Amino acid sequence: MTPSYNIASIPGDGIGPEVVSAAIQVVEKLAKKLGTFQIEFTHIPWGTTYYKQTGRYISEDALDTLRKFDAGIFGAVGAPDVPDHISLWGLLLAIRGPLQLYANVRPVRTFPGTKCPLNTATEGIDWMLVRENSEGEYAGQGGRSHVGQQWEAATEVAIFTRVGIERIMRFAFETAQSRPRKLLTVVTKSNSMRHGMVLWDEIATAVAKDFPDVTWDKMLVDAMTVRMVAKPQSIDTIVGTNLHMDILSDLAAALAGSIGVAPSSNLDPTRKNPSLFEPVHGSAFDITGKGIANPVATFWSAAEMLKWIGEKDAAEKLMTCVENVCAADVLTPDLGGTSNTQGVVDAVFAEIEKIN
Ligand code: NAI
Ligand code: MG
Repeated sequence: MTPSYNIASIPGDGIGPEVVSAAIQVVEKLAKKLGTFQIEFTHIPWGTTYYKQTGRYISEDALDTLRKFDAGIFGAVGAPDVPDHISLWGLLLAIRGPLQLYANVRPVRTFPGTKCPLNTATEGIDWMLVRENSEGEYAGQGGRSHVGQQWEAATEVAIFTRVGIERIMRFAFETAQSRPRKLLTVVTKSNSMRHGMVLWDEIATAVAKDFPDVTWDKMLVDAMTVRMVAKPQSIDTIVGTNLHMDILSDLAAALAGSIGVAPSSNLDPTRKNPSLFEPVHGSAFDITGKGIANPVATFWSAAEMLKWIGEKDAAEKLMTCVENVCAADVLTPDLGGTSNTQGVVDAVFAEIEKIN
């Protein structure tokens, strides 16, 4: 019997529905062509329209709803007339934390059709970024006192736990170990942050002992920005905190050529909960509805999803099709091309047809 998968589709806001719809069409086409697996997408309407109707970004039983699926694909959340902290906490952070999707994995490499803007990186970039996805500054601790007074105070407390650090370090060392260079950089800030970041360093050192074949080093986050620009070839796998990697991963995407191709996976490596796959970019109001959003980041995210649920061969075939399309210069305007979203979809369809 061919394996069959049920996927939650949460297109969200802005260009989210445009790129998720593109990815679903492509994956369905691929499944039909290969005939080796079946896949069904169930639409879930969470996002800003849902919020305006119900007062909530996700349904009350959202976590139980999601647990019924093998995985989820997500577009983006955020609207011009809702403060970003309301939309982000209402949807994405309301799922990542409770489902313990603690590893955010972001492969970054120069893609056909994209170019590293740095002259130093003649061979392009090929990195694997691992972001701690459940704690740090994004754990939700803090508050505001004396609101509106001149002496108003606000705190944003970073949380680092032994369990949280150890599990992401193990995941990062395993990831580095699985890649040819077996090279890991642990990003830290333990010079000025002398509690949480020192625990982070201590646990990295302890976990490293279990991975003698992985070469690793430690780098302060500010120095890491310099290294990413000045010596991109010295880097392979990177692990860092939620905040540090949020920033470094955008830098990485820009160095690799474009945010329009950057994918990400929110993983529960224990596989108790379904993992969620999404492009790195946001809802991009400036181009919403114009039909020119680059779907490649979501195609790549869908390929990562296929790999995670056990369809590695299909994932690789999909990536080959997408790379062929980009190499043939069927590119959206963010990459300097003249194609639109549907044009890229049609070109990928044609590549899928050629698979034998
Ligand atoms: P953004 O990623 O939405 O857009 C930044 C720039 O990149 C824009 O000029 C946009 O047109 C362009 N861009 C992004 N994706 C593209 C694509 N697929 N094809 C072509 N061009 C693309 O980031 P921004 O403007 O900071 O945020 C807009 C909204 O998205 C905000 O409400 C923000 O909170 C939200 N956001 C949501 C995220 C998520 O849901 N994971 C992540 C980042 C931002
Ligand atoms: Mg970000």
